[in-house]
Amino acid sequence: MSEIKDSKLNKQGRDRVEWAYRDMPVLQEINSSMSRRKPLKGINIAACLHVTTETANLLITLKNAGAKVSCCASNPLSTQDDVAAHLSKDYGIETYAIKGINNKGYYKHIIDSLKIGPNLTMDDGCDLVTVVHKSHKKYLANIIGGTEETTTGVIRLKSMSNNNVLKYPIIAVNNAFTKHLFDNRYGTGQSVMDSIMRATNRLVSGKNFVVCGYGWCGKGLAMRANGLGANVIVTEIDPTKALEAKMDGFRVMSGNEAFMIADFICSVTGNLNVIDKHHFKNMKDGVIVSNAGHFNVEINIDSLKKMSTKRKKIRNDIEEYSIGKKKIYLLSDGRLVNLSAAEGHPSSVMDMSFANQALCSEHMVKNHKKLHNDVYDVPIELDNKVAQIKLKSMGVEIDKLTSEQDAYLNSWESGT
Ligand code: ADE
Repeated sequence: MSEIKDSKLNKQGRDRVEWAYRDMPVLQEINSSMSRRKPLKGINIAACLHVTTETANLLITLKNAGAKVSCCASNPLSTQDDVAAHLSKDYGIETYAIKGINNKGYYKHIIDSLKIGPNLTMDDGCDLVTVVHKSHKKYLANIIGGTEETTTGVIRLKSMSNNNVLKYPIIAVNNAFTKHLFDNRYGTGQSVMDSIMRATNRLVSGKNFVVCGYGWCGKGLAMRANGLGANVIVTEIDPTKALEAKMDGFRVMSGNEAFMIADFICSVTGNLNVIDKHHFKNMKDGVIVSNAGHFNVEINIDSLKKMSTKRKKIRNDIEEYSIGKKKIYLLSDGRLVNLSAAEGHPSSVMDMSFANQALCSEHMVKNHKKLHNDVYDVPIELDNKVAQIKLKSMGVEIDKLTSEQDAYLNSWESGT
C-alpha cells in the first residue's frame, strides 16, 4: 500500500506528467521499444528517486517494460505530491513519498519500498543501497544489480567497493556523458537559478553570486548566474578546477574572502560544512544562502541556529536568521534548493539521464552474471545511443567518418 499525501491530487499529477513527457523524446522511443519487447518482465525494481514528473515517466516506462515497480523519495523535500498520487492511483505503482516528511518517515519509506523484494535497485544518492547493506540484508538474496543516478551516490558506492562491502554490481548512470555533461551542467544551471528566483523574487543582475565548487554542477550554475548578469565568484579546493574557473572568466577566491562580499551563496560541492560557523560571522546583512548539493550537509545549519538570536519564516522556502542586527536568509532548510523550491531539472535533460537509467536496467538484467560486486560505467554504446536519439529528435544530422578517416585514426605510421 502506498503512503502519499492525497490520492485526489492524481489528475493534476497526470496533466503535469504528460506535459513533461512531451519533452522527453529519447525516453518516448525507449518506452515504445520496451513496451513491445518487455525486457524487464518478471523483474521487481525498488526506486529511490526524486518523485517528479520526469521520474514518473521513467517509472511508467519501466512498468511498461514488464517490471513491477515501487518507489520512494530520495530527499524529504523533493516530492511532488500530485505526481506521487498519479503514480499510485493511476498506475498502481507502490509509492512512498510525501513532501516535507521528517527523517524518520523518510527512512521508513525507503524500507517500505523494499517490501517489493527488489531484483534491481535504482538509487539517487545511495540511501536505498545503504539501507539494504546496513540493516535490511535479507533483500540481498534476490538483488542482481542496481543503478545510481548522482555524483554523491557514486562516491559512496566507490567507497563501499573499495572497502569490499558492496554486495552487487551497480552501474553509475551519473558517469554517462549524456548524463553528467547535460543534467549536471545545464540542468543544475537552469534549475538552481529558477529555484533561487522563485523563492526570493530578487534581481540577480549586478549582484555578487558565489558558487562553491566548480564540478559539472558548479560550472553550469556559474554559467547561468553569469548569463543573468551576476558578478560570479567561484570557490574551490581543487587547483585545476580553480584554474579552469579563472580561465573561464570568473573571479576565484577563498571562502573567507568570497562570503564577506556575497549577495548570494550557493554550495554545490558534495562535501560538508563548506559554509561554516566562522563564515557566517563575516557575511553581509541580507545574504541569501542555499545548497544544491545532494545532502543538506554543505551548510553548517546547526551552528547558524546556535549563533542566531531569532529565527523566522519569511516566505515559502526562506528562513530568516538574525545574528544581532544582521540577517542571513537560508533557502529550503539547506536542502537541494532546485528540487525543494522549484521542480528540479527540466524534462529535456532528465530525458537523457532517465533514458540511461532504463537502458542500464535492461543491460543489468542481461549481463549481471558477467559482472562483479563493483561500480561500472554506462557502456559507451548505450551512451551513444542516447545521444543519437536526442540529436535525431532535434532534427540534427551529423557526419560519419569516411573509411579513409577511420583507417587514419587506427594507424600510427603516418605523420607530417
Ligand atoms: N534531479 C534533478 N532534477 C530532477 C528531476 N526533475 N527529476 C528527478 N530527479 C532530478
